[in-house]
Amino acid sequence: MKIMELEGQKELKGTIRISGAKNATVALIPAAILTDEEATICNVPEITDTDALCNILKELKVDIKRASESIIINPENMENIEIAESFSKKLRASYYFMGALLGKYKKAVMYFPGGCSIGARPIDLHLKGFEALGAKVTNEKNKYTVEADELRGANIYLDFASVGATINIMLAAVKAKGTTIIDNAAKEPEIVNVATFLNNMGAKITGAGTPTIKIEGVDHLGKCFHEVIPDRIEAGSYIIMGALCGNNLKIDNIIPEHIESLLSKLEEVGVKLDVGQDYVIVSKPEKYKPTTITTAVYPGFPTDLQQPFTILLTQAEGKSKVIETIWENRFMHIPYLNNLGADITVKNQTATIMGATPLKGTEVVATDLRAGAAMVAAGLLASGKTKITNVEHILRGYEQIVEKLTEVGAKITIKEI
Ligand code: UD1
Repeated sequence: MKIMELEGQKELKGTIRISGAKNATVALIPAAILTDEEATICNVPEITDTDALCNILKELKVDIKRASESIIINPENMENIEIAESFSKKLRASYYFMGALLGKYKKAVMYFPGGCSIGARPIDLHLKGFEALGAKVTNEKNKYTVEADELRGANIYLDFASVGATINIMLAAVKAKGTTIIDNAAKEPEIVNVATFLNNMGAKITGAGTPTIKIEGVDHLGKCFHEVIPDRIEAGSYIIMGALCGNNLKIDNIIPEHIESLLSKLEEVGVKLDVGQDYVIVSKPEKYKPTTITTAVYPGFPTDLQQPFTILLTQAEGKSKVIETIWENRFMHIPYLNNLGADITVKNQTATIMGATPLKGTEVVATDLRAGAAMVAAGLLASGKTKITNVEHILRGYEQIVEKLTEVGAKITIKEI
């Protein structure tokens, strides 16, 4: 087991370079098996979610070469075998193999995916999409078999603009006969990144990034080279840390348009930002103003930044609110924040934060990935020492977090216990 220790109240100064997006990478790796030749993906983050997906590729006998930030994936000799539960439960995104294997072989057999416990996380929209394309879905004790004689293009309306369902349906439809239209599709930048990757292979996808995506099926997908977009959630997490402890902290290699909702909320609470073409420079202000944030699908305020942003609201004078509309169970970090000295109550899907309260280091738990980032932000701000357990959650999504924060002045270590 790993434990993270932070000594708080250190000024953060210098530059943090943002890695490739986790949520794009975890879709791009399964998507790569759709090529009939070879796919090279660069700017791949070194996180444990990447390792977990590469382990699934190895199980499927896919040839992979990893060199610094690139992965070369060659599925020429791959075998379409059942993906065991021990592999699928490592992360949510293992379910992208369902769409990719179905799209390539018209058959996928795998167990229900794992991932952070932030809600019920059903996959009904993914399965309905596969069925609309002509697949038959059977489910026996958590094991899903998705199979079709032929995949035919279809018009699919998503009841909710789900990121996972949108990507999974694109993967399944890319080689189907005829045209597929996904309506009420999710618009997140990661979806555009995956569609671009598939188009680089020879797919015909238009409209990614809008609510209507059109996929004209093709027979062959070829060799391609692709770059992962910068991680907007990693960027947002460090910008929030800069708003808490920064002195001209530069967050570099980002696409500021991808985090506009966060930047405007930061300005609203009184944080001064210097926004460049591919960077943001952030400093801690004298005072923070309270506000309300409501999470929403892109381009709304991202649910994944709600937890770290809450730390900032503990420092605002007066009453703030966080309204979570995407996940049913995304306030598990609140009791730990209260242990650190915050004054937060949760009722239904709303957290009410009374500030400003000083935070004092103690032992806390990273209950899920972004709750973990919130604990790191709290530990940077708090007086004294903060110990975080369940650090494995954080390492699933933040590349070299200790090195990146140490470089800008934080006192942070991870120990094996
Ligand atoms: C992705 C992100 C996650 C982020 C979330 C919302 C990845 C790997 N993870 O998760 O970090 O928090 O988007 O921005 O990209 N739903 C259903 N049925 C389905 C699918 C989803 O009811 O078949 C519901 C979910 O329970 C949830 C909502 O739709 O309430 C959003 O889920 P979705 O957009 O699918 O999130 P993920 O793709 O799992």
